[in-house]
Amino acid sequence: MAKIAFFSTQSYDRTFFENRTDHNHKFDFHETRLKIKTVDLARGYDGVCVFVNDRLNAEVLKALADRGVKVVALRSAGFNNVDLKAAEENSIKVMRVPSYSPEAIAEHAIALIMTLARKTHKAYNRVRDSNFSLERLMGFTIHGKTVGVIGTGQIGKAFCNIMQGFGARIVAYDKYPSDELEKEGIEYKSLDEVFNISDIISLHCPLTPETHHLINQDTLKKMKKGAMLINTGRGKLVNTAAVIESLREGHLGSLGIDVYEEEEKLFFRDLSDFVIRDNQIAQLMIFPNVLITAHQGFFTQESMEEIARVTLKNFDDFQEGRESGNEVSCKMIKDC
Ligand code: NAI
Repeated sequence: MAKIAFFSTQSYDRTFFENRTDHNHKFDFHETRLKIKTVDLARGYDGVCVFVNDRLNAEVLKALADRGVKVVALRSAGFNNVDLKAAEENSIKVMRVPSYSPEAIAEHAIALIMTLARKTHKAYNRVRDSNFSLERLMGFTIHGKTVGVIGTGQIGKAFCNIMQGFGARIVAYDKYPSDELEKEGIEYKSLDEVFNISDIISLHCPLTPETHHLINQDTLKKMKKGAMLINTGRGKLVNTAAVIESLREGHLGSLGIDVYEEEEKLFFRDLSDFVIRDNQIAQLMIFPNVLITAHQGFFTQESMEEIARVTLKNFDDFQEGRESGNEVSCKMIKDC
């Protein structure tokens, strides 16, 4: 039996893990994020189970090791929040859920695109107010548009497949282009070309030192005037200040984000009774051509079931000392 302390848990996380009876591990759930101030909650546990905004930097990993923790299980695919070198130095194994439902995130990106393209969020509110006017609701047709995809891994691929159904031309950039997608008609281009010719750009690459602020003042200028930018990857892929400036100048046409640079202070919490002190998100919230969701791309019944199933398997593999394809290590990233 492995004893695991869960961090950043919401009621739905507890439900999906508590409903499973196919294991012999012991879980304790905490709502708080894992950070240096809360690390003592992990004392005496074999492992911690964390999510996207828990901060596993060198200081936290050393503190976890000092308290007896031997495994970090991520309830996510992305692992940019873990210092893998420090994990290795402290003999802590890091495991993730590499693929729970790439389609769920791809479909959420499509939801953002469709809402912005057809203004259904505005139409919904108008009709509820008995306002049946179509003034200022004109959208655009996706069929025939050029859609740029940055990162064609599991989510990017699912996104390309859906977009092909719309009859869009799909251009893509990936460090490692996929032969399979090329055969399906996806055109790989240089990053600059993708920026230059796309009407819609969707980000599906991981956050690494190389992709940090991939969208910045310079790259925004390379985009077509009026282009739509969609980010369901990680907040720090985008320099928020530069995006606000581009929206204000009328260059970037619209923005749909499921992730935000400073989301760890905001997302997954009900702050409706509080004043939002983050000026950048407050600004973004008032632009009529910006749509924000709070990191819900993963959040479907199917994904949650799969995250719980694979995480439990990760604990089993850890406990039995079995090799698992779900371990992440320094070998997987450049400049680790
Ligand atoms: P994946 O590992 O299957 O694909 C990532 C792709 O990005 C790979 O093809 C890789 O070659 C490419 N890539 C790496 N560095 C690149 C660079 N510098 N430029 C262009 N492409 C690059 O990962 P997957 O499962 O498709 O997930 C992608 C990202 O989506 C995750 O890293 C995570 O940040 C994010 N994500 C967001 C979720 C949400 O709820 N909004 C949920 C799950 C993942």
